[in-house]
Order: sequence, then C-alpha cells, then structure tokens
Amino acid sequence: MDNKNGAIIVFFSKDGNTRSGAKRLNERLGGKIIELQEQKKGNFLQALFKKGSKLQGNPWNEITGATDVYLMQPIWASNAVPAMNAFLQKADFSGKQITIITFQQFADLRNSDKVHQEIAAAVKQKNGQVIGSYAFIGGKMGQCAAEKFIYDQIDTMELPNSPIGDP
Ligand SMILES: Cc1cc2nc3c(=O)[nH]c(=O)nc-3n(C[C@H](O)[C@H](O)[C@H](O)COP(=O)(O)O)c2cc1C
Repeated sequence: MDNKNGAIIVFFSKDGNTRSGAKRLNERLGGKIIELQEQKKGNFLQALFKKGSKLQGNPWNEITGATDVYLMQPIWASNAVPAMNAFLQKADFSGKQITIITFQQFADLRNSDKVHQEIAAAVKQKNGQVIGSYAFIGGKMGQCAAEKFIYDQIDTMELPNSPIGDP
C-alpha cells in the first residue's frame, strides 16, 4: 500500500500482542511497518536498567521520510524495552510528530504514565514532537491476547487523516 500520509509504525514485540496492534493500526493508517529485531534478544535486566540492545539492520533509515511516527512496544520491568531504547538512542525525529503506544499485562495500566514520560523525553531529545500516548492491555507475560481484544483497543485511537476513517 502507498504510504500516502507519511505514517510509519516502528514496533517491537516478543509475544505478538504489539505486533497484532501494529498490524491493525497500519490497516487504519495505510502506512509502513518497521519491526525492530535484535541481534541478541534483549532481557528483563536490560529493561530494568534502561539499556539498549543491538538491533539488526538500519531501522533508523526507514523513518527518514516520515512525518508521523508511531512507536509501539510492550512494557517490561515497568520500563521501555531494550530494542526501543536502542532505537531511541540513534533516532532523528526532526520535523516528525510522534505517538507513543504501549502494551502491558496489568489491567490497571500501572507505570504506563512513567514509561510514556520517559519515552517522550527521549523523543524530545531527538527533536521530535510527541502528539499522543496510549496505554493498552496485552496478554499475560509470555502470552498473546485474542486478536479482537487488541484490535478493539487500537480502534479507540483517534487518527488524523486516516484513509478509512475512524471505525
Ligand atoms: C520480560 C518481561 C517483563 C514484563 N514486565 C511487565 C511489567 O512490568 N508490567 C506489565 O504490566 N507487564 C509486563 N510484562 C508483560 C508484557 O508487557 C505483556 O505481556 C505484553 O502484552 C507483551 O507484548 P508483546 O506480546 O508484544 O511482546 C512483561 C513481559 C516480559 C516478557
């Protein structure tokens, strides 16, 4: 599909929840999806200590022409995941509008505000403008929730210039 509105979804997913959310969001945006893949799997301790993992390829190049970037990731250890930390460390968000989306297992969405603030601070440091943050519920640790459960949450998002509109 053409990337008509310059939207790019950058996501990391271990167990499929965020991947499912990214797929649904892209159905609405008609953009492009970039999956962050690690050379060696990131872990709980790296998340806890806010470290980055080594990424495969050059995902940073992929967002060069984008005007809207959606950063999607699970919450690990009440923090951002190592793969997203690595992406944020080298990204250039100049002139881009960023939306932050997290998935987590706890239904009370605990610590999501803190994680969103930390990701937003990293985005601002790389000259990006954060225009929205969404906290969603995924599966329990190691599990993938039903597709409809994920899709229904993504469908609550209000999107600018969505080619198929808001459902
Ligand atoms: C290493 C690890 C740490 C996690 N830590 C948290 C946490 O602190 N809070 C939370 O709500 N969920 C936590 N989770 C659950 C995930 O956020 C949840 O299962 C999410 O839906 C996974 O997304 P994914 O399927 O895209 O990988 C953790 C999961 C893993 C694997």
